[in-house]
Amino acid sequence: MTDAPVITVDGPSGSGKGTISRLLANHLGWNFLDSGALYRLVALDALNNDIGLSDESMIADHARQIDVRFVSQNPMDEPSIMLNNEDVTADIRTESCGNAASKVAALPRVREALLQRQRDFQQSPGLIADGRDMGTTVFPEAKLKIFLTASAEERAKRRHKQLKEKGIDVSLSALVKDIAERDERDGSRETSPLKPAKEAVIVDTSIMSIDTVMDKLLSLITD
Ligand code: C5P
Repeated sequence: MTDAPVITVDGPSGSGKGTISRLLANHLGWNFLDSGALYRLVALDALNNDIGLSDESMIADHARQIDVRFVSQNPMDEPSIMLNNEDVTADIRTESCGNAASKVAALPRVREALLQRQRDFQQSPGLIADGRDMGTTVFPEAKLKIFLTASAEERAKRRHKQLKEKGIDVSLSALVKDIAERDERDGSRETSPLKPAKEAVIVDTSIMSIDTVMDKLLSLITD
């Protein structure tokens, strides 16, 4: 048990929470939890092992046992993500892995299996926890809860740009459809649906630059 402070940053994909959370963690010198990467790793492991994406008990067993490491050379860069000693940094970022992640994330026993792994990131001097249910389920005692959002269209555009930079070519209209489907699945599942915690501060980033969002969040932290 640790009393290191936690700030949760939840929201739908493309709301900017990944970029902003990482910047915030670097700015404060705190640890960073990319909980979406954990769900993506569990999904990739299931796909690699031909486990059906609805085989809840098998996926939950694997979620408990897989060896996952986030290896950082430089805190400003995205870490290399290792699954059972293999570098899967690029593999987990594909749209198909994101979709598979949102399917395994709807399975309550899989969420349960990842709970302690996520809480283990709460270490001194503090933690920025990025996800969907950080403020509602994983860190209900967090000192500050932020919920970032943006319109579906703006989120699709951002995703499109990100993927293009990584050399992945997907049509914008396919992304809008994917995002809408994923929002629906993440928001309507029974266990830990995507929704702001009661006390969360909601920030709509649709027309805000990254710098403006950072200024806003830093002002919330020092309040
Ligand atoms: O954030 P990212 O797009 O990497 O997350 C992939 C998927 O994992 C999300 O669409 C969501 O279904 C799931 N997820 C979740 N709870 C979290 C983080 C991610 O259900 N805390």
